[in-house]
Amino acid sequence: MSKVLVTGGTGYIGSHTVVELINEGFEVVIVDNLSNSNVEVLNGIEKITGVRPVFENIDCVDYVAMDNMMDKYGEIDAIIHFAASKAVGESVEKPLLYYRNNLVSLINLLQLMPVHKIKNFVFSSSCTVYGQPDILPVTENAPIKPALSPYGNTKQIGEEIIRDTIYANPTNYQSIILRYFNPIGAHASAEIGELPNGVPNNLLPFVTQTAIGIRKQLQVFGNDYDTPDGSCIRDYIHVVDLAKAHVVAVKRMLTGKSKDSLEIFNLGTGRGLSVLEIIKTFEEVNQVKVPYKIVSRREGDIEKVWADPTFANEVLGWKAVETVEETLRSAWAWELNLAKLRN
Ligand code: NAD
Ligand code: WQD
Repeated sequence: MSKVLVTGGTGYIGSHTVVELINEGFEVVIVDNLSNSNVEVLNGIEKITGVRPVFENIDCVDYVAMDNMMDKYGEIDAIIHFAASKAVGESVEKPLLYYRNNLVSLINLLQLMPVHKIKNFVFSSSCTVYGQPDILPVTENAPIKPALSPYGNTKQIGEEIIRDTIYANPTNYQSIILRYFNPIGAHASAEIGELPNGVPNNLLPFVTQTAIGIRKQLQVFGNDYDTPDGSCIRDYIHVVDLAKAHVVAVKRMLTGKSKDSLEIFNLGTGRGLSVLEIIKTFEEVNQVKVPYKIVSRREGDIEKVWADPTFANEVLGWKAVETVEETLRSAWAWELNLAKLRN
C-alpha cells in the first residue's frame, strides 16, 4: 500500500483529499499544526472512510521535527503539501508570518525529500498567480502577474523555488503544481467541510453563515465591474472534485506517467459564475434567502477569472464533474450539520 504524507491534512482541502486517498487504498500520514483547523476533523474522516489516518501535530516550519517524523514513518511514496497560511487580508497585515510559514515549510520539505529518498511532490498553488488574466479562459501558459498580496506572492515564489530546485536536481524530484481556482462545497456526508476561523473571508462560508443567521447580511463587493450583472466572476469548483485531482496526480507520478520532472495544471471547471449568480443559485437549490447588500469593491479583487481546464482534462486525465447546484447544496448541508455539532 503506497504511503502519502499530507501536510495540512486536517484543513479544508487536505481533509477532503485524505478521504479520497483512503478511498483509493492509500495509507495516509497527516502532518498539521492545527493553526487553522481542528483535530475533530479526524473523526469526520473516520466516519466517512472507516479509517482514522495517522496524525502528527507538527509545524512544517520545524525542520528537526519534520526530519524525525520522516524517520518515524519510513518509506513515504509521495507528499501533498497543503500546509500554508491562506488569508489574503491577513497576509497584507502580517507579511513576514506568511513568508516564513509558507516558504520555510516548503523549503524544509524540499530539503528533506532527498534525505529520505522521497521523490514525488504535489504543491498547492492558486489561480491567484495569474492576477487578472489578459485572456480568458486562462491556461497554464498565461503570464504570471505581479502578486496582489504577500499571500499570492508566497505561491508565486513557492512555484519558483520548486522550479529552481528541480532544475538543479532533476533526478531527485518529480513534482506536480496544482493551481486551484475557487474551491467551495463539502463532502456529501456533511461530516467534513470548510471551517473558517472567525469572520469568513471567502464568499461561500459567508453565504452559508448568512443563510443560517450567523451573519445578518452578506456584503457584495461591487456590482460595477465589466461583467453581465456587474459582480465579479470566478471559477467555483467542488472541493471533492479538487480532492480527486490530487489522487490522480499522485497516481500519475507513482506510475511514471509524468512527462516532465515538473508539471503544472489548472484545476477549475472552465465555468465562470458571478457573485450574484452564486447567491441566486444558492437560494434556489436550498430554498433559503441570503440577505445581501451591494457595497463598494474590495481592494485587490480581480474582475473575472475562470480556467481553461483542457490541459488537466486531457493530460492529467481529470475533470471536474459536480454541478454548481450540487456544490451549493453540499455547502448548505455542511453549514446545517455544523449548527447541529455546535449545539
Ligand atoms: P486550510 O487553512 O483549511 O488548510 C491548511 C492547513 O494547513 C490547516 O489545517 C492548517 O492548520 C495547516 N497549517 C498551516 N501552516 C502549517 C504549518 N506551518 N505546519 C503544519 N500545518 C500547517 O486551507 P485550505 O483552503 O485547505 O488550503 C490548502 C492549501 O491550498 C493552501 O496551501 C492554500 O494556500 C491553497 N489554496 C487554497 C484555496 C482556497 O480557496 N481554499 C485556493 C487556492 C489555493
Ligand atoms: C470570491 C468573490 C469577492 C466575500 C481568494 C483568494 C485566493 C484563494 C481563494 C487561497 C469575489 C466576492 C467575497 C464576500 C463578496 N485563496 N465576495 N462578499 O477573492 O476569488 O480568492 O480565495 O488561495 O487566493 O484571493 O475568493 O471567496 O474571497 O471571493 O462579494 O463577503 O466573492 O469580491 O468577487 P477570491 P473569495
